[in-house]
Order: sequence, then C-alpha cells, then structure tokens
Amino acid sequence: MCRGLLIFCLANWAISGAEIEIKAQEKSTFPDGFLFGVATSAYQIEGSQNAKGAGETVWDRYRETDPQLFHNSSLGDRSFCDSVNKWRDDVNLLSDLGVSFYRFSIAWSRILPDGLANNVNQEGVKYYNSLIDELIAKGIRPVVTMYHYDLPMVLQNLGGWTNPYMVYYFEDYARILFTHFGDRVKHWITMNAACPGYGDEDFPPFMKDPPVAKYFCVHVTLLAHAKAYHLYDNEFRLKQKGTVGITVDGRWYEPRGFQKVNREAAERTRDFQVGMFLHPIFHPDGNYPARVMERIEKTNKQEGYMRSKLPQFSSEEVAYVQGTYDFLGLNLYTTYLVEDFNRSTEKPSYDKDLGVKISQDEKWSGSASHWLKVYPEGARKMLKWIKDTYDDFPIIISENGFSDRGELADVDRIKYLQGYLSAILEAVYEDSVDVEAYTVWSLFDNFEWVAGFSEKFGLYHVNFTDPSRKRTPKLSADWYKRVIKERRIVEVPV
Ligand code: BGC
Repeated sequence: MCRGLLIFCLANWAISGAEIEIKAQEKSTFPDGFLFGVATSAYQIEGSQNAKGAGETVWDRYRETDPQLFHNSSLGDRSFCDSVNKWRDDVNLLSDLGVSFYRFSIAWSRILPDGLANNVNQEGVKYYNSLIDELIAKGIRPVVTMYHYDLPMVLQNLGGWTNPYMVYYFEDYARILFTHFGDRVKHWITMNAACPGYGDEDFPPFMKDPPVAKYFCVHVTLLAHAKAYHLYDNEFRLKQKGTVGITVDGRWYEPRGFQKVNREAAERTRDFQVGMFLHPIFHPDGNYPARVMERIEKTNKQEGYMRSKLPQFSSEEVAYVQGTYDFLGLNLYTTYLVEDFNRSTEKPSYDKDLGVKISQDEKWSGSASHWLKVYPEGARKMLKWIKDTYDDFPIIISENGFSDRGELADVDRIKYLQGYLSAILEAVYEDSVDVEAYTVWSLFDNFEWVAGFSEKFGLYHVNFTDPSRKRTPKLSADWYKRVIKERRIVEVPV
C-alpha cells in the first residue's frame, strides 16, 4: 500500500507491486540517526510562578490586571501542570515514551527575578539543575529554549523587545545559562522567535501601538539572538562543544487560486512572516528580504515617516547576524491561503504594509484551535521552500502538534501527527531536506496562552482539578511510543 507516498509510488511505476511495497515501507521508516522528542515551555507547565524565588512575568501581570483578555478557564488556580514540583514524574513519562530528547524552556524570571543579572536566584538554578541531571541520568538529552514568551515584567516595563538594550540583557542572561548549565546542555535554542503581542495578535504585552512595535521587536530579537550565539562561540563553544540555534514559526502561506497577483502575495507573506527572521540569519547575503524592505520603504514615504518603520541593520550588523546558527528549529502547525488585498487607505500597520487577506480552506479539517487546520502538504512545501530559498542546514522540527478538548481516545491527534510525519519524510526522501529531529508539542495538556486550558495539545492528559495533577497517557502517547520504538510511521489504532 502506498498511503501518503503517492509521489514515490508514481515515480516508480515500472517496478513490481511487491517492490513498490518494500520501497514504500522503507520510505515510511526514519533515517538512521533521526531523533524523536517532545516539547513544553516553562510558563505553560511549571505553575507556582512566584514560588522558589521567581519574579513576575508579563503573563502574571496581564492575567492579574486584565483577566477578560484570557479564556475564562485560564483563571484561578496557578499551579498549571505543577512541573515545578512534579519534574521527576515528568522525566518518568519521557523515559516511558522512549524519546531521545526533551525540549523545555528555562523561565528567565526564575533565574533572574529582577530581569537583570544582578540577582541570580539559586533556587531557580537548583530546580533546572535537578531536571537536567535527572534527564541525563535517564539517557534523555536536554534541548533548552532560553526564552519562550515569558518575559520578566521588569523588562517589559522597559519596553520589552522594543528596547535595544534587550540585546545586552539577553546576553547577560545567556551567559548565566551557559555558565550554570552548559556543561550538560549541548543544544540551545535562543528563543521561540515570533514577536506575538507586538503590533498584531491578542497576546501579552498587547502592544498594538505604535505600528512600528512589531518591526522593533523583530530587529531587537535578531540582534539578541546573534549576541548570544557569538557569546557561545567566543567563550563557551570550545569547552562545552554544544550547538546553538533559533526556532521560528513555520506556518506555510500559499496563494488562494493561481492568479499572479495572489502568487506574489503569498511569496510576500512568507517573506514578512517567516523570511524576516530567516533571511538575516540563514541567507548568505543576510539582512531582511528585499521584498520586505522595498514594501516598507514605499509605505514609509506614503505615510510621511522621517525614518524607516523597520530599523535598518548597518553593514557590520548584517555580517554580525548572518550565519549565527548551528541548526534551525521549525515549529510546524498549519497553512494559510493568501490573496492580494489593497489596504492603502488604512492607518499605518504591519498588516497594511503586507497588504494581503489571509484565510484557510473550508475543506481542511479543524482542531480545537480556530487557527489550526490540518494540511500536512503545507509542512513539506515549507521545508522545501526553506531549502530552495536559503541553503542546506540541519533542521529540527521543534514543535508539531494538534489541539482537541482533551479526550483520551485522541485519534484525530494521531491522524494529524501521522500525516505531518509522512509529509516530513517526503521532504527528507523526495526533496533531500536535512531534517534531523522531530518534536511533538506537547508532552501533556498545559496552559495554552490566551486560550487558557480550553485547547489541549498533550500526549498525556492532566487532571487540572486534581491537586496531584494526575497525568494519564492518551492513545497518542502509546502510538508515539511505537513510532519511536519501531522508527517508522505506524498505523492509526482502530
Ligand atoms: C508555541 C507554543 C504553543 C503552540 C500552540 C507554538 O508556536 O511555541 O507555546 O503552545 O504554538 O499554540
């Protein structure tokens, strides 16, 4: 049977049915050395934000002052999955799954409660030391994200990611992490780079004005990432021998229909949404994509700005940011359809600069998240686009997951993961994309940001009304366990 491998089957039409069967099986088998993991992030699972000497984050503040901005069920109890106490149980789950690595993030505010490096919270250091040691004792590699959306509130008070000094504050924080944990952590993801909450989405810090906020955030984020990468290179790499990369949001954008204007709009959207992060780091020429710079330059003039809304890199900065990677982390979830859309009469905004209308195909099946529609082909196209546009470099799928309402017989999640894994393997075998690892989001149900606990992504169910936060494997946990063990995409259980 040729499920999910149509291209392969057609390409080999001249060979016999039995041979096709064998080849197809080979191609649903993961290459040697391919690694499997699962991911979480600190704020979404740890709970007890103010325990163990941690400082306040943007999330704590906005949930306190503006609860109406969050889904109702996110309020009240603050212990979430209680991983700050149950980390040993978490490692047991990971070990039972058989994963090679665990991607988790460190809470900046738990290490530096004041945001700046004057006060290192030893309790926080001890917590992550215990987690890292336990992982290593169980043969699981820690893959650590340094920053995953949980900025210390004190830094937000200084403008958050729009403040150019964040580059130095992030360097100091990175130095502390490399110093305390770099002897055992060999894979660092500087950040989950996306800038939600700056200029558009309803997400803390809800900085919708001024319209330049998004561009400032992208710019400062890129420089901060590069600073941490160079720090590692200059002071730690020789001794610690690890790798450093960045994770970006890999949503795929394709034209709605085939008109040239929509094809151009889709290409432009990829450049704005993904290329703005990738091009400066991964393109041999560095800097922002030309299409983005031209487009913004045009609206700058029309809107009467004296200075570009998108800060410009000096030639030294272009060189400083370019090449700051050992790998790319890619979060893969969904696809959008794009149409060209004239927004010239609107007030200045990122959306106006982009000038498109975005939608999804009514035929794609949905999930519990309004934005997450199932279209695995988009994952393959995204991977191929990256290879064609940038170059060849190791890619790890740093997140891929599906939301539902928390059912234990989560067949839709399994089908989703199966479809996306097939698409990723097609990218590996048919398009020669260097994907080296795959990570399911998420180990267990957790705090899904502004959606609170209404959208569940876990392989394990968490009972949020039980004080012990009991974890129960879903069908998908058993299925993923088999994938890892057999190193192939196994069938969906019936
Ligand atoms: C984020 C996660 C989030 C997931 C689902 C990802 O892009 O990194 O924190 O839970 O999307 O919304």
